[in-house]
Amino acid sequence: MKTVLKVAGVVVACLLLIGGAAYGWASVTTDRAFSRAIDTHSIDFPIPFPLAAEEVEELELTDEEAREVALERARERGRHLVQARYACGECHGDDFSGGVMVDAFPIGRLLGPNLTGGEGGVTGGYTAADWDRIVRHGVLPDGRPAVMPSEDFQLMSDQELSDIIVFLSSQPPIDNQVPPPSFGPLGRMLVATGEIHLSADLIDSHTTSHTALPPAAEVSVEFGRHLAGVCVGCHGQDYAGGPIAGGDPSWAAARNLTPHESGLAGWSYEDFARAMLDEVRPDGSPVQLPMTMITPYAREMTEVELQALWRYLQSVPPVPTG
Ligand code: HEC
Ligand code: HEC
Repeated sequence: MKTVLKVAGVVVACLLLIGGAAYGWASVTTDRAFSRAIDTHSIDFPIPFPLAAEEVEELELTDEEAREVALERARERGRHLVQARYACGECHGDDFSGGVMVDAFPIGRLLGPNLTGGEGGVTGGYTAADWDRIVRHGVLPDGRPAVMPSEDFQLMSDQELSDIIVFLSSQPPIDNQVPPPSFGPLGRMLVATGEIHLSADLIDSHTTSHTALPPAAEVSVEFGRHLAGVCVGCHGQDYAGGPIAGGDPSWAAARNLTPHESGLAGWSYEDFARAMLDEVRPDGSPVQLPMTMITPYAREMTEVELQALWRYLQSVPPVPTG
């Protein structure tokens, strides 16, 4: 009996030791991952983008008036981008004063900071370069990697980012102090083993310049490809779908969006629009989470944007589901 107890004691002690060592390793590795400095370019762009000189002349505007019109247009473009395409409010809150990305022990508590001009707002002293770093590179102003999934935004043009900044700056200031991200034991384990990727590590280049303007808003493959930049985070770089890495375990696997028989072969544009807007597939089955987090944005898209997305998805190589 005594020996059995002794053996059990040794086994428990070993497990505790291994568990402790694993946790220690994960903690140190995670802290190290987040305290690295990531080198990025430091760029500049106008906020807001000015009107074209010909238009200022044609409308006979003073400099002051031209700036007002440019601001007004930028704000409206920015509103559309945030409501239909780049889901900033999903994690930063509907009023942008702070929100939740993940709040689940033992993974962690990753909150979206306050982006308004109120107390606790973090963007007050931001330059265009700081906005570029966090939104398109996943890097904080001090150079450390952020937990924000910025790989979804790397195709954003300078003008789109500038428009979003103008729109966010026009929002009412709200006081809200948001605590910085913190990982629980499982979250640290997932970061340390590379199951949770930091977007700064996923983004191909931190020095290649961005395009100044988005492609023209028309039903073209090029514009559709630009719009589909926000779909790859879940549907994959080749749109073949499959389980979503780092996603909630209860989520459905992403579907194949390529024209393959295990994807959207046989679908019409109307079928696609019905799935995106009304959350039903051609066989009548409902579209499930997390796609239903995207459909409210799709409902804000213009007909041209939806058609361009469809035109582009029809043009990608058909591949079996990932
Ligand atoms: C999926 C969730 C998510 C989405 C979508 C998202 N963010 Fe974030 N964002 C975060 C989190 C979490 C942080 C905190 C990052 C950190 O401190 O590591 C953050 C941080 C920021 C910061 C502040 C960095 C700092 O502390 O100085 C800015 C600015 C920002 N996001 C802007 C945006 C904009 C603009 C968009 C839309 C284009 C956007 N975010 C979309 C989750 C998100
Ligand atoms: C947050 C992850 C996520 C994002 C981002 C996302 N999707 Fe999805 N999508 C899914 C998942 C998961 C499914 C499967 C849901 C199901 O099984 O009902 C899906 C299903 C679909 C379907 C239905 C396909 C079928 O065969 O049933 C279409 C169409 C679609 N997505 C298009 C898009 C487009 C276009 C974008 C970008 C504008 C996008 N999705 C962005 C996760 C996502």
